[in-house]
Amino acid sequence: MKYVVAPGGQLSGSHRVPGDKSMSHRAVMLGALAEGTTEVSGFLEGEDALATIHAFRQMGVSIIGPSEGRLTITGVGLKGLSPPDGVIDLGNAGTGMRLFSGILAGQSFDSQLVGDASLMKRPMGRVIEPLQKMGAVIEAAAGGKPPLVIKGTSALQGVHYDLPMASAQVKSCVLLAGLFAQGRTSVTEPAPTRDHTERMLRGFGYPVDHVNGVIGLDGGGQLTATQIDIPADVSSAAFFMVGASIAPGSDVILKHVGMNPTRVGVINILTLMGADITVLDPREVGGEPVADLRVRYAGLHGIDIPEEEVPLAIDEFPALFIAAACAEGTTTLRGASELRVKESDRISAMAEGLDTLGISNQPTPDGIVIEGGRLGGGAVRTYHDHRIAMAFAMAGLRATGTIEVLDCDHVATSFPGFADLAAHAGLKLASHQ
Ligand code: S3P
Repeated sequence: MKYVVAPGGQLSGSHRVPGDKSMSHRAVMLGALAEGTTEVSGFLEGEDALATIHAFRQMGVSIIGPSEGRLTITGVGLKGLSPPDGVIDLGNAGTGMRLFSGILAGQSFDSQLVGDASLMKRPMGRVIEPLQKMGAVIEAAAGGKPPLVIKGTSALQGVHYDLPMASAQVKSCVLLAGLFAQGRTSVTEPAPTRDHTERMLRGFGYPVDHVNGVIGLDGGGQLTATQIDIPADVSSAAFFMVGASIAPGSDVILKHVGMNPTRVGVINILTLMGADITVLDPREVGGEPVADLRVRYAGLHGIDIPEEEVPLAIDEFPALFIAAACAEGTTTLRGASELRVKESDRISAMAEGLDTLGISNQPTPDGIVIEGGRLGGGAVRTYHDHRIAMAFAMAGLRATGTIEVLDCDHVATSFPGFADLAAHAGLKLASHQ
């Protein structure tokens, strides 16, 4: 499937993008491992999170839904999973594979994790290493790539682990394994990353402390079922923030957006670039901050992106690169080598597409330098990466020619209904098989 985006247009109206992907994975995981029945609303019915539901069903967990974002999960407790009825396929989901590694390393049965072509190329050594320190036995393909074969163990041992990279997935993997370990498991991170695991564990009544930069928990406790209302995904809202910021005349409201401070780098960076974003009615829903956002067109200017914002905006760089392409002057990103190991190598995929559209840019090992300019038209490759596809779709708002965005099927991993919602908001987008 490809998008054909005619040039021009503006974004308007009031819209709610689908539920947060990170929280959707975690809600199912903790709900499945809890005692009692967990009710979830706002769940993202995207392929990544659906793969997580399927995996727990393979291990005997009863999950009703999703239906209009609602799920009912009958938890089996920390010791209640059954051996899976086959290989567990997590599709495109790096989060799924890394967090499941932690959960499955603590089970008494063997399991095998695979994924789609993109996931099978992604590095898993980053979770294998700490899990092995905890006593897990895990086999991987050359270079620490999937498939992962995780052997059943009688007990993991709690450890302290200093994360070598700012990765919420690795942090979460270790903390989830810690639930099954003897004693205390703790981590430090080189920079703060999204803390949904810590917040949600506490929401399920499981104590997690965070003292002097050390995040820790004791194994052997119990998760107690709860109700979870998942906000709209700030990472999905980001495409509309950028679209409205670059398209003259735009004025859009994005409703019920998750505003966790570890996720709002995109708002901070766009604001530094001169964007006009107003936070309306800030509130807290189930332990997570939420707000409505009003975004109006503003002339953007290039900036040096502060490195401390990088982990807080790690999924939003494809969209931010489109903002940089439309900004006056130069935007420089450094300290973002993690972008090279996402669903695609996002630095090179974006650099190639920006080249196609006539935007001068210089990729570097850990970032990119983008000169704002005039976006032309052309056919851009997405490397089957959902966020590359949505970023280049939004570029149509400021392009002088038609943009064909190739291979857009993977948009359904995180944002089912994107094409319809974007067209409804004013993007001149048509999907073609
Ligand atoms: C995620 C963490 C991030 C992010 C991913 C979701 C999570 O990955 O890119 O989309 O839910 O923990 P890293 O923590 O590996 O950077």
